[in-house]
Amino acid sequence: MKTKILSVASKRLVFKPNLADYEKEYKRFSYTEHEFELSYLNDHKINAAYNAVDRHIISWRKNKIALFWEGEDGTAKKYSFLDLCILSNKFANVLKKYKVKRGDRVFIFLPRVPELYISFLAILKIGAIAGTLFSAFQSQALEDRLGNSDAKILITNSELKKRVDVVRKNLPKLEKIITVEEEFWKEIEKASSALHIAAMSKSDPAFMLYTSGTTGKPKGVVHQHYAILHEHLTAKWVLDIKDEDTYWCTADPGWVTGIAYEILGSWSNGVSTLVYEGRFDPEKWYDLLSRYRITVWYTAPTAIRMLAAASAKLVKKYDLSFLRHMASVGEPLNPEPIYWGLKAFGKPFHDNYWQTETGGIVIANYPSLPIKPGSMGKPVPGITAAIVDDKGHELGPQKEGNLALKPGWPGMMIKIWRRAEKYNSYFKNGWYITGDKAYRDEDGYYWFIGRSDDVIKTSGERVGPFEVESALIGHPSVIEAGVIGKPDQMRGEIIKAFVVLKKDVQANDKLKEEISLFVKKNLAGHAYPREIEFIDKLPKTRSGKIMRRILKAKELGLPIGDTSTLEEY
Ligand code: WTA
Repeated sequence: MKTKILSVASKRLVFKPNLADYEKEYKRFSYTEHEFELSYLNDHKINAAYNAVDRHIISWRKNKIALFWEGEDGTAKKYSFLDLCILSNKFANVLKKYKVKRGDRVFIFLPRVPELYISFLAILKIGAIAGTLFSAFQSQALEDRLGNSDAKILITNSELKKRVDVVRKNLPKLEKIITVEEEFWKEIEKASSALHIAAMSKSDPAFMLYTSGTTGKPKGVVHQHYAILHEHLTAKWVLDIKDEDTYWCTADPGWVTGIAYEILGSWSNGVSTLVYEGRFDPEKWYDLLSRYRITVWYTAPTAIRMLAAASAKLVKKYDLSFLRHMASVGEPLNPEPIYWGLKAFGKPFHDNYWQTETGGIVIANYPSLPIKPGSMGKPVPGITAAIVDDKGHELGPQKEGNLALKPGWPGMMIKIWRRAEKYNSYFKNGWYITGDKAYRDEDGYYWFIGRSDDVIKTSGERVGPFEVESALIGHPSVIEAGVIGKPDQMRGEIIKAFVVLKKDVQANDKLKEEISLFVKKNLAGHAYPREIEFIDKLPKTRSGKIMRRILKAKELGLPIGDTSTLEEY
């Protein structure tokens, strides 16, 4: 296949990349040789929060702004590394007062406010496991996640708390809810700033995130403290973060990118980070980029496409000359937005690939390597990637297959909460199978093809069809539902639901709207079907499983494929 290549020269680098020679580093790489980049507590013990924040002050006696925060209403606040260190120590002592112990689950359900970042660090500092919940989640999603994890404490605000109150009776293990308006700051004021940071083994759990698969409710992916090494190195090499940078990661810590590259890996490199509380808005985003003189920007394809679709004049109004490096993750970055980026900012977006389960970037484009627009790039040093068949046997270049990774890197999940068999099902013939289809070209670049299961990526957010289907059948007019990701120019995919209605129910557009809103209100503000189609019967296997593959083929007008397991339809 002939591809247009963006050479390194065409990127007009005016700086020396942190990873100057990819091939050399890749060949000689070993994690143990890079362990010196971490700071240790006694007995070779670590703590990821200490590495992200405290060590900058304690080991290197260096303080600077860690967090530039801007609220939706324009309020701005600044926190130095020392501020974050002290505030998280204090809040850690508050948690101790509430008898939080090592291994206890403490969840955060907040928009992107400073209290989220302070809480996250505090939880890790006492050896508890931090869980984050995206602020669009509604009662059902919250009950599933807080219930499965047996969360002991929840930190939230008084508005979001109402959604938890509705299901509180089903959460007997949830001992306390701390709201940021009430106890949070009052307790912090009273608390001591002296804290004995928990010395953790590398493999001790640090944080967990619920993520979606094809079947069943979301699963709790657990990561270890040692993941910080992988996150530190990839933030340095892929995001090319340098000490003097001002960095903006637009992700939300309700998802893994916000944890790994807005809190852990990025702060571990000592960078000043911008967090903007508000929603996507082209004018506001350009304003932030220019006002904070952002030099490194990590964002997502849907946002880039939406910026490109906004007025071309807009981008010219702002001084964006400080931007030095731009990267993108979460869904396929097609070549058009890369070319748009070149035109708008004079430099390309660098696509990279990873998952909640991988804990950090595993395949990437680097400043020092040419970009083949449309490709996810090459494995990061420390990662062995391959394309394998369904039995786990390696395939050669240009062969489509399962994207697989050799287990053993520090960012790799250590378990699925309470579901050992689910964790084991990820592995085949010594490979971790990502669930994505891809191929590799002769130069070692990886090209994304699609998911091998029914997981949906809408605006870069991962949604499991089963969760949406379960929410749909909670509606009094619905008997059954099948949910798929329908390709969408802007959002990558949108959620489409095929719905079977109860007898005698009037099928009309008003009902479609009502059902859609029902899911939005009960499950999540981002995981509702934007499109609903009423049908008489869902395609199912003889054992009664909904065949979403057939719904998708029907939707796209594609051949239906093997129907030998299909019940009469
Ligand atoms: C998809 C997000 C194409 C993929 C960090 C993966 C991508 C899932 C890319 C993980 C990319 C992520 N190109 N697809 N560069 N990056 N994906 O767990 O399907 O929210 O398995 O983690 O997003 O989504 P998750």
